[in-house]
Amino acid sequence: MQQIRMPKQASNIIEKLQAAGHEAYVVGGCVRDSLLGREPYDWDITTSATPMQVKEVFPRTIDTGIKHGTVTVMMDHVGYEITTYRIDGEYEDGRHPKNVTFTPSLKEDLRRRDFTINAMAYNDRDGLVDLFDGVGDLERGIVKAVGEARQRFSEDALRMMRAVRFCAQLGYSLDEETAQAIKELAPTLKRISAERIRVELIKLLTSPHPEQMRLFYELSLTKEFLPEFDRAMETGQNNPHHCYSVGEHIIKSICEIRNAPTLRLAMLFHDLGKPVCKTTDEKGIDHFYGHPAISAKIAKKRMGLLKFDNETRDTVVFLAQYHDLRIEPEEKKVRKKMSEFGTERTLLLTEVETADVKAQSDYKREEKLERIRLVKEWIERIRESGDPLTVKDLTVDGTDLIRLGYPKGPALGLELKALLELCLQEPEKNQRDGLLALAEKHLEQMK
Ligand code: CTP
Repeated sequence: MQQIRMPKQASNIIEKLQAAGHEAYVVGGCVRDSLLGREPYDWDITTSATPMQVKEVFPRTIDTGIKHGTVTVMMDHVGYEITTYRIDGEYEDGRHPKNVTFTPSLKEDLRRRDFTINAMAYNDRDGLVDLFDGVGDLERGIVKAVGEARQRFSEDALRMMRAVRFCAQLGYSLDEETAQAIKELAPTLKRISAERIRVELIKLLTSPHPEQMRLFYELSLTKEFLPEFDRAMETGQNNPHHCYSVGEHIIKSICEIRNAPTLRLAMLFHDLGKPVCKTTDEKGIDHFYGHPAISAKIAKKRMGLLKFDNETRDTVVFLAQYHDLRIEPEEKKVRKKMSEFGTERTLLLTEVETADVKAQSDYKREEKLERIRLVKEWIERIRESGDPLTVKDLTVDGTDLIRLGYPKGPALGLELKALLELCLQEPEKNQRDGLLALAEKHLEQMK
């Protein structure tokens, strides 16, 4: 018998429910992950007991989703969700909560779940309950809908994105019939809330196989939430710097960058402006003048629609906007950009540039990487030196200038900026006496 080691709190809950005459199992993702030898994120419990009966067994519960049959039991400060066996597979999209029907049958509960690998239950008494060959699909590495795929996706259209996301997380392929059903039903993704789509997109991008973005496209899912990606997949780049279509270059660049949501998103968006900027010269070479600004615009719009937080959105928009800036590897120029962008963002920009180059053709690659490497070195050196990068880093401040006789108002800010400008060129000039003397001289000249 296959054994799953569950936390003692989970087995405790199951035993208590059983002692009260009910059935109870751990179910879904935790069973899948345990069989794969992965640490489950949380342990969901499914039971024949109604929410009221669960509450009778556990004096202290939280009504997490009582309408959907879910109550949470706290055990040693960890919440365990206990859900009553349900028949319907309607997964609310956050805006249209549905009432559900409970059932005393575990089989009924398992057959309305999304994929065979997610439709297994386990307890120590009965062992693994695997009615749809989830173990077989784990062994084959296949994501396959339980029963009639169209039915599963009609119950919850987000499952179409989940299917691709599990492929990306587990390195699996999609079952043929399941893929066919997604192709047919892709337009129904429109019904799903932006927040749920965003979560799946991020999970895919930060998975071990972000190249599965291609599968989102092939199944017509990107058409629903990022149609600009479809254009990119369909736009060639006849240019010595490139060897892939815009879309394939984007995918390659996502795979090349460090696994952080902001960076992966930056690569996703960085060239989406190319299709609308494409021109072909008399030699047949394609150009994409001005595309970073369009990419930044697309990032701003789409990330807004997908309800990303402002910080992530602003950073991605910034990185898309400047990904082609190519700062020269000279101390003063690098310092100036660090002052303008901030050190962290300037460093992120070098990561984006590196991934971008690595996803291009070999043409001048070493040269391109060398420039970025030198810029990075300068950034580190300047950061360590403690050179002033903002007016706050100057050895004088507004109060000092007022004492010299500067009027409160814009002149004050302008003078501080002028002093910073000087120190960006010559950081050793950030000496209090010298700067005060200079400010005094400027004030005289103003009179
Ligand atoms: N489930 C489903 N349809 C959905 C969401 C969930 O059938 N749209 C079922 C699956 O059996 C799933 C379980 O509910 O395994 C738990 O859902 P969730 O926590 O969202 O997914 P996990 O499989 O645990 O995976 P992850 O945490 O990575 O999302």
